[in-house]
Amino acid sequence: MTLDLHPGTEEELRARVAGLLTESRARSTTLTEAVDEADLVAQHSPLMSPLVWDLAHIGSQEELWLVRDVGGREPLRPEIDGLYDAFQHSRASRVELPLLTPAETRTYVAEVREKAFDALERTPLRGRRLVEHGFAFGMIVQHEQQHDETMLATHQLRAGAPVLRAPAPPPGTRPAARQVLVPGGPFTMGTSTEPWALDNERPAHPVDVPAFVIDTAAVTNAEYAEFVEAGGYDEPRWWSEVGWGHRVSAGLVAPQFWERDGSGSWYRRRFGAVEPLAADEPVVHVCFHEAEAYARWAGKRLPTEAEWEKAARFDPWSGRSRRYPWGDEEPTPEHANLGQRHLQPAAAGAYPLGASALGVQQLIGDVWEWTSSGWHPYPGFEVFPYPEYSRVFFGGDYRVLRGGSFGTAPAAIRGTFRNWDHPIRRQIFSGFRCARDATAAEAGAPSGRV
Ligand code: AVJ
Ligand code: FE
Repeated sequence: MTLDLHPGTEEELRARVAGLLTESRARSTTLTEAVDEADLVAQHSPLMSPLVWDLAHIGSQEELWLVRDVGGREPLRPEIDGLYDAFQHSRASRVELPLLTPAETRTYVAEVREKAFDALERTPLRGRRLVEHGFAFGMIVQHEQQHDETMLATHQLRAGAPVLRAPAPPPGTRPAARQVLVPGGPFTMGTSTEPWALDNERPAHPVDVPAFVIDTAAVTNAEYAEFVEAGGYDEPRWWSEVGWGHRVSAGLVAPQFWERDGSGSWYRRRFGAVEPLAADEPVVHVCFHEAEAYARWAGKRLPTEAEWEKAARFDPWSGRSRRYPWGDEEPTPEHANLGQRHLQPAAAGAYPLGASALGVQQLIGDVWEWTSSGWHPYPGFEVFPYPEYSRVFFGGDYRVLRGGSFGTAPAAIRGTFRNWDHPIRRQIFSGFRCARDATAAEAGAPSGRV
């Protein structure tokens, strides 16, 4: 499925939207049919909702925006609105609610979908900002895919034998250049033209970013294991004060899901299977504090959010910011490891066609990348269409993550997409890459050379 920046006719846009809605529902169905009823209603972790809550919440948001607002229809089941409002109930408490049963949930989401398709057929996709370029439909596609990634994280936390299957990602050879110089100067951050960009990605605005050096690959398991073996978790000097406090109180000793056998070799548990740690794959399931400590130990630092986006989008030869690192075309399976097509991050160097103008690889897909930046609005930010997506979280205890993971759908990621989470979270598919300031000599050198 593709989403052109300048789609053809309205009929073509409708067909694209319909395809993307169907694709996201197929994924939700896979994730919820892979387990039995008891697993669907169970709480697999206090950090996550029961899977059946996510599924009904997907339907509830779709009903709110596509059936009631865009479609102008009466509520299907107004009495359940409160149950599936994320702000009324913490994830840990949702299991106690009088939720719809799995069978009722499936019927509900199917009825909503039928009415959403009806709205798609009847609504002119122009004239009103909410539906211009199919925005409300794109927002709901992204919302469903975001909850699908959340459900995938719940699957990772679930105990028991594997129930999800996917082929291994392509192998990779680490790029010869380990790091590149991103030249100093202004670039355009954010977007005012991307039709399905969410409010926090807007508007496009210039940001002057001094020259810096960034790694061409994310930190790998082998690299991270060196930090662990070197006693990185026992040395407060690598950690921030808050980070060290968390490392001690949470008893962190290694990334989540790492296990060591009697001989000292590392294994990881992934969707129910235990396997040797793959040396060349990006480390995943680390919190912001672990990422920050590793970077300091390595003599580097995390990139700021603006640095990450400049490395991903800036083309120094044209001066333009691209939609994706590789250009303006939608992601294909050759560009990036996305959409749960594989159930793990790919080795460093596995997606050379996804490289940025400056040769930075795998910025999109594989693992979400922690940045050093907090969650703040861009200058000129406007809530659209509701404050509970972005605005209510601005200024809170969050760090920005960029680029998406192997569990992020192509429709739910782009060079401007911004994610955020608490700095202690690591049940998400989070990793990181390192950066550093450019030296004075490097800052005066040609682009890309260090
Ligand atoms: C953007 C991933 C932080 O899942 O909490 C889903 C997305 N917002 N439903 C989240 C979201 C409302 C959000 N993140
Ligand atoms: Fe939601």
